[in-house]
Amino acid sequence: MKRKIIIANWKMNLGFKESKTLSEKILKKLKTRPNFFLRNLKIKKLDIILCPSFTNLSEVSRILKSKSGIFLGAQDCFWEDHGEFTGEISPVWLKNLGCRYVILGHSERRKNLKETNNMVHQKVKAALKAELIPIICIGETLEERRRGIKDYVILDQLSSALTGIDLDLKQKIIIAYEPVWVIGSGRAITPNEAEYMNKIILQRMIDFYPLERVKKNISIIYGGSVSADNVKSFVDLETTDGVLVGGSSLKAAEFVKICQAII
Ligand code: 13P
Repeated sequence: MKRKIIIANWKMNLGFKESKTLSEKILKKLKTRPNFFLRNLKIKKLDIILCPSFTNLSEVSRILKSKSGIFLGAQDCFWEDHGEFTGEISPVWLKNLGCRYVILGHSERRKNLKETNNMVHQKVKAALKAELIPIICIGETLEERRRGIKDYVILDQLSSALTGIDLDLKQKIIIAYEPVWVIGSGRAITPNEAEYMNKIILQRMIDFYPLERVKKNISIIYGGSVSADNVKSFVDLETTDGVLVGGSSLKAAEFVKICQAII
């Protein structure tokens, strides 16, 4: 069975002190919960990934150091390793800082920073080259859903992100399906709807890559108003390997409940 994945996307919600406190609290709670010791994460086949803001990565990296099963992720990266790109962050530096993952193409960046499918594609390539695992976010807006083009939109985002990118035996990617209209709404889509979209994503991945590679190296997860109450209904789906959590990852108790619900 594939390892389950829980990703905390803290977005731009926490400063240095808050990120430090939250990661310490999460670790403490994970360690003290009955039947839920950190060393069990490995055995239970669950990976937990914390994604703080850039300025807080090194502190969280220091706190997480050598705790098995809990990893560090960034919320974005640039598509070049270095050079005249004011304000951008190199994927190589993220790797050197201890990041194992990087979120790419989040809908908030697509909307607020006009990030295009082509930019996401370039970032995916750069992240893989830097030996990071890209978490590629895709999802339709409410307007696109109403127009009946949601399947087309996510297939287009997927194809644009991955066309021409080969995956070797060691390279992994995570596809996060996040319907944009559900993010932060407090109301997730139904597991049936997630299952439908995940099957479409899975099929496209099989069109792109050999089946064995898809099974071993590609994970499909769901994001959008995930909570301790609904997480199990998503991860129990055959096609869903985990969740990408926003708001509910900002409180240690709620986030640990989410982890516990999966274990
Ligand atoms: P919420 O869990 O707050 O809906 O956010 C989801 C998200 O955008 C994670 O990347």
